[in-house]
Amino acid sequence: MAQQTIRKAVFPVAGLGTRFLPATKAMPKEMLTVFDRPIIQHVVDEAKAAGIEHFIFVTGRNKGVIEDHFDRMYELEHTLQARNKNKIFQMLMKDLPGPGQTSFTRQQAPLGLGHAVWCAREIVGNEPFALLLPDMLHHSKVPCLSEMIDAYDTYGGNLIAVAPVPEDQTHHYGIVGVDDEKAKVSRILRMIEKPTSGMAPSNLHITGRYILQPEIFALLAKHESGAGNEIQLTDSMIALMDKERQPFYAVRFKGQIYDCGSQVGFLAANVVYALDRSDLAKDIRIKLRSLID
Ligand code: UTP
Repeated sequence: MAQQTIRKAVFPVAGLGTRFLPATKAMPKEMLTVFDRPIIQHVVDEAKAAGIEHFIFVTGRNKGVIEDHFDRMYELEHTLQARNKNKIFQMLMKDLPGPGQTSFTRQQAPLGLGHAVWCAREIVGNEPFALLLPDMLHHSKVPCLSEMIDAYDTYGGNLIAVAPVPEDQTHHYGIVGVDDEKAKVSRILRMIEKPTSGMAPSNLHITGRYILQPEIFALLAKHESGAGNEIQLTDSMIALMDKERQPFYAVRFKGQIYDCGSQVGFLAANVVYALDRSDLAKDIRIKLRSLID
């Protein structure tokens, strides 16, 4: 079935990052580095690899540096070229979205993920879009969003990446119930945000990659608060599925996920992405062993 192409991706980056204070007092959480690239750069790389053409950032106070990061910096470029540091110069250029391919809008108050997504409505317009939560790094050979766009081309509708978590951890996440837990792509029958003990329909959690239809915005516009007194995206997705009868599919992600919003996940991501560097991996391995033994 030919579907409308996914051209735009939304990156909500307006959260306060309180778990990383004081590091995030003046520096956005999304600019903390996982090895030698800001977290947000890793996620933009994933979206670029999946063919996204327009990158929409929902920012807030103290997040201006993200806009600067995705812009040219002429003095630096000039200096690098003057010093024959062409490799670094080329890398900086490669990382950049092209002119006119970024948009920035402000959430003004961090009222929750659902509210952040709603703030992108005018820029997304009336077309399906991708949503990537920057602090969830998806590590795999084939980028998670590429797999989702492939599934979207076949199934259409709304898609959510999922992965299993230990059963005693389900209360931390959005959890889905599906018609076939073993399938790569399965129909979602139920969704619940942070289920209390015994209420989770499975152990498949929502990992932070979505493809959503634009009808989600009318539901988010109701600004209804949910778990944690925040405007939750999951609540509007449930309404889109149950009341508006739109199909939702779970795409099972087989790679590793690092939650860089938590200290342990952030540290693990740093080690894994460092070991990905073939030029440094050997030395890093030796160093890490010497620290642990
Ligand atoms: P998190 O809840 O993990 O981020 O939101 P946070 O609120 O910044 O972190 P803590 O709990 O205070 O440490 C996931 C993503 O959604 C964005 C965040 O910036 C993060 O990238 N977000 C969250 C918003 O853009 N707006 C919000 O109101 C909430």
